[in-house]
Amino acid sequence: MIIENQEQVTEAVLSELQRAKDPRFREIVSAAVRHLHDFAREVKLTEDEFRQACAFIASLGKKTNETHNEVVLLAGSLGFSTLVCLLNNGNNGQTETTANLLGPFWRMDSPVTKNGDSIVRSSTPGPALFVNAWVRDAGGKPIADAEVDVWQSSPEGFYENQDPIQADMNLRGKFRTDENGGIRFRSVKPAGYPIPVDGPVGDLIRLQGRHNMRPAHLHFLIYKPGYKTHISQVYVNDDKNLDTDVQFGVTRALVGNYIRHESGNPPATDVSGPWYSLDFTFTIEPGVSKLPRAPITAKAEGERVKLEILERR
Ligand SMILES: [Fe+2]
Repeated sequence: MIIENQEQVTEAVLSELQRAKDPRFREIVSAAVRHLHDFAREVKLTEDEFRQACAFIASLGKKTNETHNEVVLLAGSLGFSTLVCLLNNGNNGQTETTANLLGPFWRMDSPVTKNGDSIVRSSTPGPALFVNAWVRDAGGKPIADAEVDVWQSSPEGFYENQDPIQADMNLRGKFRTDENGGIRFRSVKPAGYPIPVDGPVGDLIRLQGRHNMRPAHLHFLIYKPGYKTHISQVYVNDDKNLDTDVQFGVTRALVGNYIRHESGNPPATDVSGPWYSLDFTFTIEPGVSKLPRAPITAKAEGERVKLEILERR
């Protein structure tokens, strides 16, 4: 159609979208167009601001490569990843869930690791942590033979893929639940870490006066045919940034009870000094067992990058 005024632009685009054969595609893109056009009207977007927004989106792509995903970082920083997670888990947003966002650091093909073994694969500072985790269904039935990927940052704040100093796949492992639905492993207590702010997401966070820290956490991905793939993070209860997570990931159900032991019998003889334990139970739901697309596929080389920490103002 030949457009006569600003209202008609929306009409023209929505009308062309009716040609799309896939009904779900039509629904999603039509709603996106309606909201996008209404957004521009609501804020009376100027031409300068529009060009700035286009440059911002282009810079997200330019900043993304095989070891870093700026788009996923943006989705988290806007709370969008958590919203999509909570809409799709816990009986489609009706009940509490132990599901959480994937984040930008999951890699395929974590090393298969036996229950009870360590995921520390190169010298890594930090207090020892012993984890017992269980996988159950909503009725409390243990789920045996589920694959459980585990990954975390080092206590210095780097995932191994960001850090040429750590061994490949350090602090990552793939476990299988036993007949009680349990896995257990040794690691080091994770520390909170700053998300990278040398790209467009950093500019966005600075403009808001926010800090760029994530509270310490362990990541989990639980895969079992017949069940919806369960992606989770279990946050450390003594972290000072629990209620200001830059990625808005912390939910009440996922604050883990990491217990500090000053003495007692640690589960390994080489532990000296205080150590930590965590017991945690995940509740998974029937559904499609599909693995997500891995946000990154390789490990960084060269120098370790400097992580910048922003103050909350
Ligand atoms: Fe993380």
